[in-house]
Amino acid sequence: MKVLVVGGGGREHALAWKLLRDDPSIELIAAPGNPGIAELGRCESVAAHDVAGLLALASRVNPALTIVGPEAPLESGLVDTFRSAGLAVFGPTAAAARIETSKRFAKELMLAAGVPTARARTFTNAHEAKAEAHRLGAPVVIKASGLAAGKGVIVATTITDADDAITMMLEGNAFGAAGHEVLVEEFMSGEEISVFALTDGTHILPMIAAQDHKRIGDGDTGPNTGGMGAYAPVSIETAAVAMAAVNDVFLPTLRAMHEAGAPFTGLLYAGLMLTSNGPKVVEFNCRFGDPETEALLPLMDSSLLDPMLIIANGGSLAGMAPLRWRTGAAVATVVAAGGYPGKVRSGDIITLPGAERDVMVFHAGTSRDGNGSLVTGGGRVFVVTALGANIAAAQRLSSGHAERIQFEGRQLRRDIGWRELARGAGTS
Ligand code: AMP
Ligand code: GLY
Repeated sequence: MKVLVVGGGGREHALAWKLLRDDPSIELIAAPGNPGIAELGRCESVAAHDVAGLLALASRVNPALTIVGPEAPLESGLVDTFRSAGLAVFGPTAAAARIETSKRFAKELMLAAGVPTARARTFTNAHEAKAEAHRLGAPVVIKASGLAAGKGVIVATTITDADDAITMMLEGNAFGAAGHEVLVEEFMSGEEISVFALTDGTHILPMIAAQDHKRIGDGDTGPNTGGMGAYAPVSIETAAVAMAAVNDVFLPTLRAMHEAGAPFTGLLYAGLMLTSNGPKVVEFNCRFGDPETEALLPLMDSSLLDPMLIIANGGSLAGMAPLRWRTGAAVATVVAAGGYPGKVRSGDIITLPGAERDVMVFHAGTSRDGNGSLVTGGGRVFVVTALGANIAAAQRLSSGHAERIQFEGRQLRRDIGWRELARGAGTS
């Protein structure tokens, strides 16, 4: 069976790795893939955002399943295009992807469906937006409505910061069209977890929670990044939290998507803030998270391929057994390039240590230079996932291996999972 994976980051490497564990006979094709994925299958140099190029590729290779990793091609309607061509594709339509690509759409849907989330109002006029921020008082959250590569959210601790953020987005064009509509949102305090669910549009198979680490530095200090590491499981996802995620978040959201005429199929990602009033949605994403996926998939015992095939073929997940997970824990440590999350260096020669048991090295931003040497080629270069009996053991193995990956300017955090350890929950 041929499977086409769209994308070329650590998430797509982990997806490819898991699908081949589920069925080693798969013929894997990735577009564009990366040097790590190239060890598992064939990489075609078609960019993930090139919808026409991807359709041409799929028409040529005729995959039984296509999986779309990143959000940009989902926003561009890759799934709509593939479905019209009769191809089985895993991911939401452009209309359904609005749950991530339009924060305004997501917020209005949640508020109408009674899904717990922070109250927010949408503005295109800076004067009105500021008046709302002043009414709410600091801290207050200012969000660009559209996709802004994870940078469109400003948690303003003072009213001056809120005013500046609004000016920058609505008058300064800071995020282009994505920021021409802003949400002024109530601040929520609590700890955040990422919960993913596979869905056919009606039924769900929830995964266990993971926790991302967004800041560049140990102890969650310094600037925000796309994510410097993740771990799973997360002990603050109690049975009650997991139940609330299903009954108060996923199921009513999917019903509302149906009612909005945009049923959501694929992988729905809920970023949940665990507040003193229960879990509340911070954001939805319409695809697997990165680097959470690299922590979760190595822990997943059940087949991922089976539900993906059902969903991509328009089938039903009704009656499927809950997903099974290995005991123990996974820690995924990102190895980033010098300069990240700012302007990054690239083309630095990489030296990799030998393989280690229970360690998976997922390529995220690597490439080959003219001599075929492995070099850096992106902000996040590798994601090193280790399995262990608990978070402490997995963290030691993951950061120890990540430490032995060498290139000029390398950055990594050595404390992924620290909140779990601080709770005394990841040591036994
Ligand atoms: P987002 O891109 O929506 O995930 O937001 C980025 C980050 O901003 C989140 O991971 C949260 O840490 C923070 N954030 C977003 N919305 C809120 C909110 N209403 N209250 C507090 N923090 C928030
Ligand atoms: N880890 C956050 C994201 O994938 O958006």
